[in-house]
Amino acid sequence: MTIDLAALPRDFLWGTATSAYQIEGAVAEDGRSPSIWDTFSHTPGKIAGGDHGDVACDHYHRWREDIGLMNRLGVNAYRMSVAWPRVVPGGDGPVNPKGLDFYDQLVDGLLESGITPSVTLYHWDLPQALQDRGGWPERETAEHFAGYASAVAERLGDRVTHWATLNEPLCSAWIGHLEGAMAPGLTDLTAAVRASYHLLLGHGLAVRAIRAAAPRAKIGIVNNLSTVRPATDHPEDVAAARRMDGHTNRWWLDPVHGRGFPADMREVYGVELPEKHDDSATIAAPLDWLGLNYYFPATVADDPDGPVPHARSVRRDGVQRTAMDWEVDPSGIETLLLRLTDEYGARRLYVTENGSAYPDVVRPDGSVDDPERQAYLTGHLAACASAARQGAPLAGYFAWSLLDNFEWAYGYDKRFGLVHVDYRTQARTIKGAGRHYAEIVRRHREGVARAA
Ligand code: IFM
Repeated sequence: MTIDLAALPRDFLWGTATSAYQIEGAVAEDGRSPSIWDTFSHTPGKIAGGDHGDVACDHYHRWREDIGLMNRLGVNAYRMSVAWPRVVPGGDGPVNPKGLDFYDQLVDGLLESGITPSVTLYHWDLPQALQDRGGWPERETAEHFAGYASAVAERLGDRVTHWATLNEPLCSAWIGHLEGAMAPGLTDLTAAVRASYHLLLGHGLAVRAIRAAAPRAKIGIVNNLSTVRPATDHPEDVAAARRMDGHTNRWWLDPVHGRGFPADMREVYGVELPEKHDDSATIAAPLDWLGLNYYFPATVADDPDGPVPHARSVRRDGVQRTAMDWEVDPSGIETLLLRLTDEYGARRLYVTENGSAYPDVVRPDGSVDDPERQAYLTGHLAACASAARQGAPLAGYFAWSLLDNFEWAYGYDKRFGLVHVDYRTQARTIKGAGRHYAEIVRRHREGVARAA
């Protein structure tokens, strides 16, 4: 399969992505306070193998080495997140200068290497202190998020221009408050819907705060979206697919595009939103770009007695799957990029995450050959280029992930990295997929140089 690299812009951002809690470790250093993920991961039974992020990839101490790996991959961008509990340990109130110092150095190190930092402010690590006061179901959390965003933008905004407010608010709200499989581990529909509302309100307030502190900022939001198809053409399944699309996609996209929360889904949830009169305009604050995290498609059937949105996922036979048991379908990323372009009028898009976990085998010489991950990468990049060729304003792609890391409820068992991490020694080894990605990046650059 070939990737139509000529369809991608000359200044395309070729990146890798990570998040703070998944790689940093050093959870009690330099004034960092516990986050909801420290609490959740230390609660027996919540994480496979009893794993937690206490040490993770020790990136807090090894970030120079990790920038070196990015250099070896030849990438020109890096999507990272800032840990709120490092910067504002109490959730609100005093800023911890040492927490900001870490990101300050990291940003300088990236820039010295010619790597553009793309900074996400919230990748799920809410300070536990705010959870103790009610967390995202409470309005004050959205307000404190803006305060924290302002502190980070004031410190880094002279050098960082790419900003994302939230990563995958769907996971925070639905998986964290409804399904209970992620922090804070609640199973409460009212709390989940209120959390979803305040996450998007916090996003809008943070956009305003970042713009005030960093006038050159280009700001977006990162959503994990899915293509949704009905399991059959029976009207019940078609309606279930529409509900799942509302739950997964429209609930997160419509309000930030000034369309309000979808009426059909308000009815499905039956929970009153904690709306105040200016909120819808705040939530719809103009954005510079949209981020798409894409992993797998969904096939759903009607499930009237099941939990909202009363649609259950159907497992399709005869399709390829990753170690997460996620179906491999590159056409989904193309469909979603075109949907964001056509239906939501996106003017700038980034694939902010895309990648795959497979059971890597480390050879006696330490190398990891991972043909399936390489094929996943090629297939999805070909689909991205095809979307770009059809007019999607795709400006960058961030492979998930730079490193194997703490995969939330799955612990360290699932490996998404382009770089293998030996958690015993912290040795890093670039996998076959890392070399494959580097080669794609090199070929694109070569094409750009030839065309100049
Ligand atoms: O590891 C996660 C990441 O934190 C958010 N997006 C999906 C990835 C793979 O599950």
